[in-house]
Amino acid sequence: MLPTRSFAGVAHRALLRSQAVRRYASAAPTAAFAGQKGSNGKYTVTLIPGDGIGPEISESVKTIYDAAKVPIQWEEVSVTPVLKGGKTVIPDQAIHSIRKNTVALKGPLATPIGKGHVSLNLTLRRTFNLFANVRPCVSITGYKTPYDDVNTVLIRENTEGEYSGIEHEVVDGVVQSIKLITWDASERVARYAFHYARGSGRKRVTAVHKANIMKMSDGMFLSACREVAKEFPDITYDEDLLDRVCLQVTQNPRPYSDRVMVMPNLYGDILSDMCAGLIGGLGLTPSGNIGRDASIFEAVHGSAPDIAGKGLANPTALLLSSLMMLRHMNLNEQANRIEKATLTTIAEGKTITGDLGGKASTKEYTAAIVGKL
Ligand SMILES: NC(=O)c1ccc[n+]([C@@H]2O[C@H](COP(=O)([O-])OP(=O)(O)OC[C@H]3O[C@@H](n4cnc5c(N)ncnc54)[C@H](O)[C@@H]3O)[C@@H](O)[C@H]2O)c1
Repeated sequence: MLPTRSFAGVAHRALLRSQAVRRYASAAPTAAFAGQKGSNGKYTVTLIPGDGIGPEISESVKTIYDAAKVPIQWEEVSVTPVLKGGKTVIPDQAIHSIRKNTVALKGPLATPIGKGHVSLNLTLRRTFNLFANVRPCVSITGYKTPYDDVNTVLIRENTEGEYSGIEHEVVDGVVQSIKLITWDASERVARYAFHYARGSGRKRVTAVHKANIMKMSDGMFLSACREVAKEFPDITYDEDLLDRVCLQVTQNPRPYSDRVMVMPNLYGDILSDMCAGLIGGLGLTPSGNIGRDASIFEAVHGSAPDIAGKGLANPTALLLSSLMMLRHMNLNEQANRIEKATLTTIAEGKTITGDLGGKASTKEYTAAIVGKL
């Protein structure tokens, strides 16, 4: 009986997988921006200023958008958790706002370590099914770093893996943390990576993994990527080990300009900070959380409690994230204009913030960008 039963199980799983492949095969991986202009000619975008330096850098973005006359109005919401039915949750007003507008710009949110409420970032990702986190890292011409030619795009699976939050104590002194990988989530992020490569003119997708150690979990992630790769014959697909990629990118980032890297959650978190280091740090790296129900754009960095409230924060990462958002909304002309003013200000080096080696405050830097618009 046993072998028959387990064979049935395997066959059933194979069937489910093939259904999963078919279910997504024809669908676009993400809904396009669906917002409508209001009677004032503006789109409404949810703004979550966030914690620590969040309000300061959000203020800078708002000032620059006013000066550039970007046709959007902000709907500011707080995501400070509230108690509901004995659980801490994001306020309904914030959820409704993001669901209605389908697009949001978010400042960093502080996450309690080892205690307290669950990470609000994780809650937002799960609530809106933000399945892919896109993190581009591009050298800024004129701003000197060890390499002048970094141009990486990393796509991180955003909903599961090591961030599933399933942990328990087996016995006193022994704790188990579960890395959950599903075929559906792996396939979905892989398909988005191939679409992104095609849309951005990159000719290769590299899956980054540790399937030599995590044979089943990362192994299945790779199987899903291989399956999706068959639908994109115009894009070369290959695989590389996370540790090898870290070594190679820091030795010579240039070969990575031709591709999109896709990987499970934790690897993307770490590798993207490493790439950020190559272009001048966390103050410069944007990201977009792409989902089915909404997309939320945010800087890669955190709430920087060490400099919060001092007027020293660099708003560039949040500003560049907002430009990814504008392009997602097809407001390309405004995005290009703000980007040019920002990159020129950094390249000139006269009015830049402390993290970039300058002496300017957040407000002075913001004013310098506005002056160039
Ligand atoms: N997406 C998010 O909301 C997000 C991401 C990462 C960390 N966090 C949270 O942020 C809090 C602080 O985390 P952390 O200290 O590990 O990382 P962090 O990114 O906040 O800070 C790391 C270092 O970089 C500096 N830095 C970061 N952003 C900067 C900016 N815009 N301008 C100038 N300097 C900047 C900080 O001053 C600090 O020295 C934690 O609660 C963490 O959980 C949130």
